[in-house]
Amino acid sequence: MAVLEILEFGNDVLRQKSEEVTEFNEELWQLLDDMAETMYEAGGVGLAAPQVGVLKRIVVIDVDDDHGLLELINPVITAIKGKQHELEGCLSCPGRNGYVERPAKVRIKAQNRYGKWKTYVGTELLARAFCHETDHLNGILFADKVDQWEEPDKK
Ligand code: NI
Repeated sequence: MAVLEILEFGNDVLRQKSEEVTEFNEELWQLLDDMAETMYEAGGVGLAAPQVGVLKRIVVIDVDDDHGLLELINPVITAIKGKQHELEGCLSCPGRNGYVERPAKVRIKAQNRYGKWKTYVGTELLARAFCHETDHLNGILFADKVDQWEEPDKK
C-alpha cells in the first residue's frame, strides 16, 4: 500500500467529471487500498479518487461507525430525506471548514470491489460524507455549497 498525494483546491482535476468504473481488477483493488491508507494517514473520513488525481467514480469512507471502511464504486444517491446544516471540511482544502446544508438521511447504491451492487443508508456524518464524496465525482467541491465559513480563530 502507499500514501498518495492529495490534490488541493485550485487544481483543475478536482473540477472534472469522473468516469464510471467498468473493470473490477487488481489495479482497482490497489487503488482502493492506497486511497484508504491515504485517507487514514490524513485523518479524513472520506476520499474520492479525483482527489488523488484519478478521474474514476471511486470513493472510500470511514466515519468510525458500524459500517467500518466503505468502498463505493460508481455510487448513486437514490433517495434523500430531511435537512441538516453542519460543519464540513475537505482533505483538499486543509484548515478551512464551513457550514453546508445537506440531506439528513441519504440512501446510496454502489458497487463493491468485486462489482456487486449494495445499498447503504446514512444519517448525520455518514449522510454528509455520501453527498460530499459523490459531489467530488462530478467536479463539485464543498466550498461551492458553504453558506457560512468557520472563523479560523474559533478552531
Ligand atoms: Ni472533499
